[in-house]
Amino acid sequence: MADQIEEIKQKTDIVSLIGEYIEVKKAGRNYKAICPFHSEKTPSFMISPELQIYKCFGCQAGGDCFAFLKEYEGMEFGEALKFLADRAGVKLERISRTDTSEKEKIIEINNLTSRFYQYLLFNSSFGKVALDYLLRERGLKLTTIREFGLGFSPDSPIGLKKFLIDKKKFDPRDIERAGIGYPKGGYFIDRLRGRVIFPLLDHRGNTVGFAGRVLPGPNEKETAKYINTPETPVYHKGNLLYALNLTRQNIKRKNIAIVVEGELDAISSWQAGIKNVVAIKGSALTEDQVRLLSRFCKKAILCLDSDIAGDAAARRGVITAQEQGLEVKVARLKDFKDPDDAARKNPEGYKESLINAVGIWDFLVTEVFERFDAKSGEGKAKISREVVPVLSLISDKIVQDHYVNLVAKRLEVSSVAVLEQISKQGKKESSFTEVSEDKEKRGRRELLEERLLSLGFRYNTEILLKKSISDLVKTPLSKRILDEYLTYSSKSAKFNVSEFGMALPKELFDGFARMVLSEESEINNQDEVPIEIGAVLYELKTLSLKEKLVKLSGEIGSLEERGEKEKLAKLEEEFKNLTEKLHSLEEKTKQGIILGDDA
Ligand code: CTP
Ligand code: MN
Repeated sequence: MADQIEEIKQKTDIVSLIGEYIEVKKAGRNYKAICPFHSEKTPSFMISPELQIYKCFGCQAGGDCFAFLKEYEGMEFGEALKFLADRAGVKLERISRTDTSEKEKIIEINNLTSRFYQYLLFNSSFGKVALDYLLRERGLKLTTIREFGLGFSPDSPIGLKKFLIDKKKFDPRDIERAGIGYPKGGYFIDRLRGRVIFPLLDHRGNTVGFAGRVLPGPNEKETAKYINTPETPVYHKGNLLYALNLTRQNIKRKNIAIVVEGELDAISSWQAGIKNVVAIKGSALTEDQVRLLSRFCKKAILCLDSDIAGDAAARRGVITAQEQGLEVKVARLKDFKDPDDAARKNPEGYKESLINAVGIWDFLVTEVFERFDAKSGEGKAKISREVVPVLSLISDKIVQDHYVNLVAKRLEVSSVAVLEQISKQGKKESSFTEVSEDKEKRGRRELLEERLLSLGFRYNTEILLKKSISDLVKTPLSKRILDEYLTYSSKSAKFNVSEFGMALPKELFDGFARMVLSEESEINNQDEVPIEIGAVLYELKTLSLKEKLVKLSGEIGSLEERGEKEKLAKLEEEFKNLTEKLHSLEEKTKQGIILGDDA
């Protein structure tokens, strides 16, 4: 097996693999792309053909071909292995059924169960009522019912057991793990018995769970309207986007998704011709859902029945989505209960409301003004109390300024006053940790040292052997990588990026990958290499000198206090020397002589 993994890895080129999903462009020795794992406008996603890895400098995603499939397609290792084996034409040694992972088994059970429920909806006497309900009361067409794979689970303890256990020979424990039901007194109790079944498919079409809706009737009020599969290894309520398996292509093509709440909202919208819809199955959009959706589009129009402005969770969901880089608009249905209602009664009006959707900030700001009287003092105070937290959440200062002015105008106060309220509000409500690049957390010295090694590893490994370089490099990561390189080069004749990278201790690999992948260090013109290296060396050397000067001046200060004249004179002399050195370094730089071994 281990050999096969190696073989598959060898036969898989990560650049072409990733290229099958997103557009990649050559950038020097590496390739770059717009990162599929976070939203960005300029590419910070790099792929190294030499190391056979990818790395995003914006969101820190990274890894090999298996990691990519895991992150991008949600495949687990076994699945990715099969997928890549097929792709590479490697015949995998037979994996027995007991070897298939728990997740795969659950999906297999779910897929079969889904077919079973569908069969019962159309072909059993129990299913008749349910089918009638869907066709007549919910106005669904047969083709729609089939497209969404709707089904019915009769209120009987026998069917599921007969089918899954007696006939298909599944282990009851696995069925229980799939969340479908549980054994009880020789029977197998279906959690969703007596309900219309909505299979829940992930974006790749795997049945990951089910939702069941009660049929109208005398018992309707006694139980929850909807029941869902509990969290299982394959079903996580917060990452599912219902209908995405059917609509992903359209969403991608249009670069926009219509986001609704419930299954039937999505199904009715689809039937009314809105083929780029997804449902979030609840009121609050989660970060996982936004991440998934962002892979297919950059814009979303939310058409939720929940009160986005009033419901804190719903509001946080949309604001987070906007901050995650999805452009969010909000549509309001005037005369209808929900999208399902609108799509059936007035599809044209529904589409109109979608077209007229307004940007999230406009929506939230306007909404506050609608609730209070902007003319009275009391009204202004109330508006201020509600609108300021909204404004303070806008991270783009230019956008924020726009709304500050708008609010100021409508309140007939100065923008300065509004701004002051915002800064008072401070970061109280802003719970968003920005996707800060590691870069900002690393100090200047670290960055310079990494850049120096980066240039060395790419263009001039000779220079890394110089003693003056070892003396300059001080921060732990760079120092350790450089030490590793010195050892390596004493043993190997020629530098080989992948060989060296793979042999590095695990904890250093990420840093090394950054060095060979970051685009900033990519140089197109060979002549510029020495100039770039020179510039970095100059910066590092001046930085070292300045650090020493700061340290010295501190010591000089305390010697002055204590009146230790003799020592003082010595340090002052040293200070003078260093200052001169700094000046002469600056002079030399002007003349372009920087690669000496002196500093
Ligand atoms: N939901 C859920 N669990 C519940 C209630 C609701 O998962 N106990 C989800 C379902 O996906 C549901 C959605 O939230 O479709 C919206 O709920 P609700 O507005 O109550 O239902 P509708 O979609 O209007 O359902 P229907 O039209 O069938 O009455
Ligand atoms: Mn409804």
